[in-house]
Amino acid sequence: MDLKDVASQYLGRLDPRLMSGVFRYLKKIPFVQERIDQEYEGMMSDLEKVVKPYRGRFETHARIPKKGVAREEILAELEELRSEEASRWKDGFVSGAVYHGDEEHIDFLNRVYALSSQSNPLHSDVWPSTIKQESEIVSMTSHMLGADRIGSEICGVVSSGGTESILLAMKAYRDRARDRKGITRPEMIVPTTAHAAFDKAAQYFNIKQVKVPVTEDSVVIVGSAPSFPHGVIDPIESLSSIARSKKIGFHTDACLGGFILPWAEKLGYPVPPFDFRLPGVTSMSADTHKYGYAAKGTSVVLYRGPELRHYQYYKTTEWPGGLYFSPTFAGSRPGALSAACWASLVSTGEEGYLESTRRILETAATIRTAIEKMPDLHVLGDPLWVIAFASKSLDVYRVMDFMTERRWGLNGLHKPPCVHICVTLRHAQEGVAERFIEDLSAAVDHVRANPGEKGGMAPVYGMAATMPVRSLVGDMLERYMDLLYKV
Ligand SMILES: Cc1ncc(COP(=O)(O)O)c(C=O)c1O
Repeated sequence: MDLKDVASQYLGRLDPRLMSGVFRYLKKIPFVQERIDQEYEGMMSDLEKVVKPYRGRFETHARIPKKGVAREEILAELEELRSEEASRWKDGFVSGAVYHGDEEHIDFLNRVYALSSQSNPLHSDVWPSTIKQESEIVSMTSHMLGADRIGSEICGVVSSGGTESILLAMKAYRDRARDRKGITRPEMIVPTTAHAAFDKAAQYFNIKQVKVPVTEDSVVIVGSAPSFPHGVIDPIESLSSIARSKKIGFHTDACLGGFILPWAEKLGYPVPPFDFRLPGVTSMSADTHKYGYAAKGTSVVLYRGPELRHYQYYKTTEWPGGLYFSPTFAGSRPGALSAACWASLVSTGEEGYLESTRRILETAATIRTAIEKMPDLHVLGDPLWVIAFASKSLDVYRVMDFMTERRWGLNGLHKPPCVHICVTLRHAQEGVAERFIEDLSAAVDHVRANPGEKGGMAPVYGMAATMPVRSLVGDMLERYMDLLYKV
């Protein structure tokens, strides 16, 4: 009997919240803790083989080497690793992850990075070039997202990614509400499909997450355009107008859609209003390192007016190190990433974004239509390019396992169990959509014909979804992260 069986047999019918409490107590009993540790060790040693494929093939550097390794040797190792890893994403097997990936574009960004590799916007006097580039990134993004067509000022900052943009915005709302309204127990209203970054913000900044209704302590309502799991655009117009009528903020998370939806709208796709043209939208996040086609490590967070942005900033006047300020969480930052981001926006241009968006959306429509025709699968919602599918008759995680065997890297989701593909320019290459459809159809046939087959990730997803004690799932993730840092 394994851990999951024990858990479901003995604990399955009880209240999960109550069980979490009971379980915390049970874990203090040495025998129970020992048994759990054994189970985890078995699970982690299986995973270790997958997570650490280079053990024994390349030298392990657990300590700084006595004598530095020759540069050529290091470069040769990195070349080998790159050529081994690149083909999977380059050939379009991976959902999301690399949004552009054409060789010429990458080479260009690498040259830009090399030219600016020492730059740090913390030292604005030494590198005013980075300051110029960042202010222009913010301005270009804000104009793309409605600033052109409204009277009020849209401002923002460049952050390190979607999660940081979201954390920064939530901190700004919390601090403004404390300052302006004396709210000391802030709440945010968040749909369950919003990205995990909002939960992270809630944990870090002590903001209570509320699903509905809006209360006196609400400081912000959140909507996604679109959401990561199912690519669904929340009803931003009505949610932001509720926020406005209650005089609280509204954040549109357009991390995934910020650099697709404006162009999709221009191409004539049915895009509901989601940006600053809606008067209730007071902040937005849009990721340049996704469909802005920049290198990894940049995103933009925007605010309606400078007041909210002020609540995001950090400054101190008392530090012996001098008057210190930093607009985002980091102190020193990689100016070269901002330079590469700026170069991506400027070199792609409106025409480039329109053309890329057209190719992505056409590819996604081909994939979606084919899935809709597969009798055992159905598409969730009415997505444009993030296509989640589920099955009433088959274990969809086993369908995903079959796809993994054919090199595909899809995303397994839960609540409800489904799988998604986030379509990028990699999938718009010739023949990729057709290969996906062929493989998916073979996967469905295989799973239907072999109902009893075991193995793969399906049991792990199944366990994560059904384990009645949520803290066990959390423990499992902690151990997995520990494993990632094991040399
Ligand atoms: C809707 C949405 N919001 C936020 C994020 C977080 O972005 P990042 O992984 O860059 O932190 C993502 C990432 O996929 C996303 O899809």
